[in-house]
Amino acid sequence: MPWWFLRRRGKLAVSTPASVGGGGWRLGEVMLPRLRGQRRYLQEHPYLLPKDLGEINRLDFQHYMIRAALRGNYLAPIEQPRRILDVGCGTGQWAIELAQQFSQAEVIGLDLEQARNRSSAPPNYRFVQGDVLEGLPFEENYFDFVHQRLLILAIPLAAWPGTVQELARVTAPGGWIELVESSISPNDFVPCGPAMRQLLNWMGQLAALRGLDAQGVVMQSLERYLAEAGLINIQRHVLEWPIGDWGGRLGSLGALDLKEAARAVSAPVAARFGISEQEVLTVIEQASQEWNELQTRGYLVVVYGQKPLAR
Ligand SMILES: C[S@@+](CC[C@H](N)C(=O)[O-])C[C@H]1O[C@@H](n2cnc3c(N)ncnc32)[C@H](O)[C@@H]1O
Repeated sequence: MPWWFLRRRGKLAVSTPASVGGGGWRLGEVMLPRLRGQRRYLQEHPYLLPKDLGEINRLDFQHYMIRAALRGNYLAPIEQPRRILDVGCGTGQWAIELAQQFSQAEVIGLDLEQARNRSSAPPNYRFVQGDVLEGLPFEENYFDFVHQRLLILAIPLAAWPGTVQELARVTAPGGWIELVESSISPNDFVPCGPAMRQLLNWMGQLAALRGLDAQGVVMQSLERYLAEAGLINIQRHVLEWPIGDWGGRLGSLGALDLKEAARAVSAPVAARFGISEQEVLTVIEQASQEWNELQTRGYLVVVYGQKPLAR
């Protein structure tokens, strides 16, 4: 039985540390204080980033940036989906735009918490509270399109295969799953200067304490996860992303987003490594100068696949 299903009965305390892999998993380290500095973090979930207004604004900004880079909201060759699910929907913006585009479809955004009340959302959109690590609250073969974007700092490495199988369970035969991910490994920022390496090292150690992937393994394994879940017609697209003003508008936006994401964990990093938050912020500044000097690039990987038609 996958370790996270055990949480249904006993929460994180009964999960098996050894199965999570990568440096152990102690409850005391999993739980961040709810507030650190001005930021609010979720307790009892592996998710590393804050849940607050600052993060909502960053996610909205990031959504428009990714949409511009992809020239759309998805790459899978979907046609007229009747039911669409966005797992870890964040602000809900992606799902709301899909609901506007496919006004006949039922569109659901699922997340641990609703980011904000969307009174302006179209009537065919609805938010469902849920935890993908505990299984999705939907019957099998329900959705024609299942999308999951940027849960690298939310799903422990050992839970990825089971999570993708869960996405496949709720996908209808002939339907599509699309996964969009990045990495926090220094190998996935090229070239990676010393300050950026230090920053990613801190973040990586913090992530590994929750069993999260700090080595870029998930980004490399998305196709395998889909194949193991029984999907076919799998395609992988790699977007190389300039970071810094040297890379034009997309580069400037990418740098802003990355800086904000790093600042989002500056307080937990400082607390974990016994340094001042100012020290972390200084390294973030140094890293952002390096991005321009070295012309650093990051990567976004989009992988999609189709559930075979039932025979
Ligand atoms: C980095 S944000 C990405 C949001 C959105 N997918 C996007 O691309 O804008 C990750 C989201 O996953 C959600 N999340 C984290 N752990 C989750 C879990 N176990 N189940 C469902 N959602 C989760 C967080 O609350 C957050 O909204």
